[in-house]
Amino acid sequence: MKRNLSIEEVNQLRNEMKQVTNEILTLISHRMEIARKIGEIKNSLDIAIVDDKAELSVKNHVLDNSKNFKLDPEFMGRVVNLLISEAIKIQNVERMKKLNERVKDCEWSNQDQNSRNDIGTYKSSTVTKREIKSHLDVFNVAKQLEAEGKSIIHMEVGEPDFLPPKQVREELKQIYDKRKFHYTQTSGLSELRERLSKYIDNFIGENSNTINRATNPEDIIVTPGGRFGIFGIFSSLLRPGDEIIVIEPAWPACQDCANYLGVKTRIVKSNLDTLWEPNIEEIENQININTKIICLNYPNNPTGKILSKDTLQKIVSLASKSNLYLLSDEVYSHYTYEPFESIINFDYQKAILINSFSKTFAMTGFRIGFAYSLDKNIIEKLKEVQALAITSVAEPMQHCASIALQSDPKTYRSIMKKRIDTVCEGLSKLPFDYVVPDGGMYVFARIDKSLNTTDLKLVERLLANGVAVAPGRGFGLDYSNFIRFSTCIEVEKINKALEVIRRTIDIN
Ligand SMILES: Cc1ncc(COP(=O)(O)O)c(C=O)c1O
Repeated sequence: MKRNLSIEEVNQLRNEMKQVTNEILTLISHRMEIARKIGEIKNSLDIAIVDDKAELSVKNHVLDNSKNFKLDPEFMGRVVNLLISEAIKIQNVERMKKLNERVKDCEWSNQDQNSRNDIGTYKSSTVTKREIKSHLDVFNVAKQLEAEGKSIIHMEVGEPDFLPPKQVREELKQIYDKRKFHYTQTSGLSELRERLSKYIDNFIGENSNTINRATNPEDIIVTPGGRFGIFGIFSSLLRPGDEIIVIEPAWPACQDCANYLGVKTRIVKSNLDTLWEPNIEEIENQININTKIICLNYPNNPTGKILSKDTLQKIVSLASKSNLYLLSDEVYSHYTYEPFESIINFDYQKAILINSFSKTFAMTGFRIGFAYSLDKNIIEKLKEVQALAITSVAEPMQHCASIALQSDPKTYRSIMKKRIDTVCEGLSKLPFDYVVPDGGMYVFARIDKSLNTTDLKLVERLLANGVAVAPGRGFGLDYSNFIRFSTCIEVEKINKALEVIRRTIDIN
């Protein structure tokens, strides 16, 4: 029998909804009050704010009851994640207040927290008044010192000092006269995508067992750099409360983008003593109903680690078992000194390759890169984000990239390897531990305990003596006893820097 429906009934239900919303918010407010109290205790005990185990216990407790709620468990998990991240925010604010009080007393602060915004910082009285948290802060301070007339050797940033290929110079000169400066298709010029498809087949897939790889240009999208590729993928595939897995130490952008989008990062730590090999079981343990993407970056920034085919296969299997996306940032894939296998060689449908012209062709300021996936849906979604945000990548830069693909960047690789070897040899005579990098353009070295110092203290002393290096904690909070040495400068300068490091440590 049909019920007699009326607008009065809708209004009544709406009132009920208001009431329920109020009740929900009252309960949330109560929850935040509890979080604040827990935060105070954590502060006085000086313990980490983020506790993965405690979080998972809350989540599992709720999910165990999911049947009673008649709600989609995945949705419930996202709601719980949002509540947890709000609680962490509140606790971080309190922690920062406490930290600032300490900094006011003009001393080092080295708090163990799990928000990239709130990691320990140092305010220097001798070198600069600026806060230092990451390699970019060091770069800014170094620039400030240079402006004051001080000479600095830059080993803090990852920007190759090579010139882009010569052909790019000619192309740049002609672009104005040939009027190649308009909007293009959002996915990029067809000519560039054609060339990229051959580049993927011939270079990136060079170790592949897959015979006759024929990358489809339609599966490629040109992006304004690798960083935007990652941001675009995250914003097209993730919703607030979703989760990604990141293996640390890591270039911080994945976590920063995730934070910005309200996405939770679950961290798996790797360490020097196990040669930066990620523990597969730990990755598996972090996968839950809200996990969407496993992020990989090999050759790794900062460690230079390259994963073996076997390890990659295990990660692909994990992703496949839980139907996860696998985002592989391979911007250092041309700087490989040991065998390297690209994610594309595993033919995993949900794998996404991120690559860029920045490091490979020394074209950082051109802001151009690309993403590739066998899953057309992913590329379509990324295209939508790009159409919204940028219309298309600048046409002149696309032509330059297309021309760059006709050159062979292999010489850069051998030069970089020589520099890496120079840094390693120098550090081997100093109180640092490291693993010789398999690839990339950095050496990530642990400061020996005998020096009784932290990354920030050492960074500060080296800056004062004219050498800029990156503090380890910028790549994960467990690495505050590490320094990242970038090898983007000539061997002569590296040797000078090593001498300064030796002297600085002696004085210590
Ligand atoms: C691992 C990694 N991915 C991506 C990038 C940024 O690349 P792009 O200049 O193409 O945005 C960097 C820059 O340092 C990086 O280290």
